Order: sequence, then structure tokens, then C-alpha cells
Amino acid sequence: MPTILDPTDLSIEIAAEALRAGRPVAFPTETVYGLGALTLDAAGCAEVYRMKGRPAANPLIAHVLDASGARAITSAWCPRCDELASRLWPGPLTIVVARRPEVPVVAVGGRPTIAVRSPSHPVARRLLQELGGAAVSAPSANRWGRISPTIARHVAEEFIAEDDLVILDGGRSQLGLESTVIDLSGPRPTLLRPGSVTLEALREILGEVDAPEIVEQGASPGTAARHYAPRTTAALVAFGGIREALAGQKAPAAVLCFDSSHVPSPHTATAMPRDAAVYASALYDALRSVDSLGCARILIEAPPSSDGLWRAVVDRLRRATTA
Ligand code: TXA
Ligand code: MG
Repeated sequence: MPTILDPTDLSIEIAAEALRAGRPVAFPTETVYGLGALTLDAAGCAEVYRMKGRPAANPLIAHVLDASGARAITSAWCPRCDELASRLWPGPLTIVVARRPEVPVVAVGGRPTIAVRSPSHPVARRLLQELGGAAVSAPSANRWGRISPTIARHVAEEFIAEDDLVILDGGRSQLGLESTVIDLSGPRPTLLRPGSVTLEALREILGEVDAPEIVEQGASPGTAARHYAPRTTAALVAFGGIREALAGQKAPAAVLCFDSSHVPSPHTATAMPRDAAVYASALYDALRSVDSLGCARILIEAPPSSDGLWRAVVDRLRRATTA
């Protein structure tokens, strides 16, 4: 069983010491919890892949305090990068640019680029400060393909057999969805993963930003179609279509929907928030809860929109419901 520690000065030191010794540590960020190792420590990063069961070609996100931390591990930090960092960091935005040669290939899944972000969560920042600003590569702290954790207990449940794992408890991750990932390594800025920094906000700063409907695996190997997925079979239903979808459904289903009065027995309804930010922060918790009910199926009502923050929500719902 991992150890969950309150974020005292001592536990931050313990976590930093574990990282320096090559042992991954889980820590809170404002998006989701991360499982980190020092970016420049190839063995530590390899251990993160082992613990997650993550394919070696899926690159990790490096966490830094600020743009100067980003410059230390990148080789093509550009004026556009600075513009984004000065307006949106610290926060839920990850920028992909060319990496420095000293970054071990294992930290970036063998790619010539590296994804970098500066988290705003105070516990993540204290940990980075304790490390003297060294970068920490951290994917979400879940087993590969599963739902990202938004509280410390979720992390402990994912890594139940890892007795040496220390988890810093920073309460609930406020945003609840993984960061927005934008690729600035090519000729045109490209959105690789939608998140709380919206496409609209990025276009306001950068002008044109490509937003492919389906991101090629080659462009970002972590963007598998099925991801963030519960174990129970889950399906996405059109907005307003829950009653119809349940018409032929005899075995009890778990339903995430906007109006639970559309859900007759024997089905179980979870009413979801109509505000996109509140929905985003509640989603993974709700998915974990309904996954544990033992229902035959999970049905999820699609949001009324796919603009703004709903884009990120719809993206995760699609991945959670892809067979
Ligand atoms: O909010 C977040 O970003 C969280 C917290 C812990 O910071 N981290 C996270 O990491 O979601 P992970 O590993 O679950 O997702 C990393 C994403 C993947 O979609 C991956 O393909 C993409 O970032 N990525 C990382 N490095 C990349 C690179 N060099 N080129 C293209 N995509 C990259
Ligand atoms: Mg992940």
C-alpha cells in the first residue's frame, strides 16, 4: 500500500529525496495527480513507465516552475512559447517544442521534442522549489489507459501494490481534466489535446491554431482513441437522448445525465452539472463511482455543446466510451 502524506515541509523533503534517489513520487496538480521522476534521470523515468504499464513510445510531460525552467530542457523555446507562458503559466497548458540533447530519450518516448508545463498547484510548486527548479516528468498517476486521479486516494487505489510509493496529498485537483497540449514544434501551432485552456483562448493569443478532430498517434502517441476509460462498457448518447437510449435496456444501467428525471428504475442516475467547469471537475470522480456500481453498462449523455471547455469534456467522454 502506498503512503499518503499531508504536504508538510518534512513530507516535501521526503518526496524530493525519493525523486533524487530515482523513486517516483505522486503529487497533486490543479489538473490531475501526477506520478513523477526527475526529467534528467533516465532510470527514474523508466520506473514511471513500469509502474504505469505505459507503452515506451508514449512521451511524458515535464513540469517546471517557469519559462526559465522550460528553457533548461528545450532547445527551441520561441517568442510564441514565451507569450503563452507569460499569459497562461502557471496553469493547465502544456507546450511541445524541440528538446535538449541531454534529456534522456526515455523521458520523451524517443521523440525529438518535449512537452513542458508549469503547474499552479502550490504543493507541486513547493516540490519543484525543493528540487531547486529541476524538471519533473509526470504523466497522470493512473495505470495506463485508465481514469486519471483527482484525489490522493485514487492514486493509492491505482498503485495498491507499490509499498514504496509516497503520495503527497493536495486535496482535490480543482480542474479535474488533464492539461491542454499544444505543439509548437512544427510550422503551425497544433492542438494535440483539449483542456481547460480553450482553443478559443489559444487562437486569441497565437492567431491560427490547427485543431485536428483526431490527433494522429504519430503526432502524440498518448492520444489513443480509448483512454480515460472505466472497466464497465460505456456508451455516449446524444444530448437529450437518454430516455430513448434506455427504452430497450433491461439490465440496470448507470447513467450520467443532465436531468435524472429521464432515468426510470432499475437504472441509476447521476445528475451532472450544466456548467462546463463544474462538470469537468466532477467527471472522473463520477466515472470511478459509476464504474464501481457493478452495472451492466454505463450510459453518458453528451453535453449540449462542444465549444470552449466542453471540447475537452467531449474529448474525454469519447475516449472513455470507445470500445
Ligand atoms: O494535466 C496534465 O497534463 C497531467 C498532470 C500530471 O500534469 N499530466 C498528464 O500526462 O496528463 P499524461 O502522460 O497522462 O499525458 C501526456 C500527454 C499525452 O497525450 C502525450 O502524447 C502528450 O502529452 N505528449 C507528451 N510529450 C509529447 C511530445 N513530445 N510530443 C507530442 N505529444 C506529447
Ligand atoms: Mg494520462
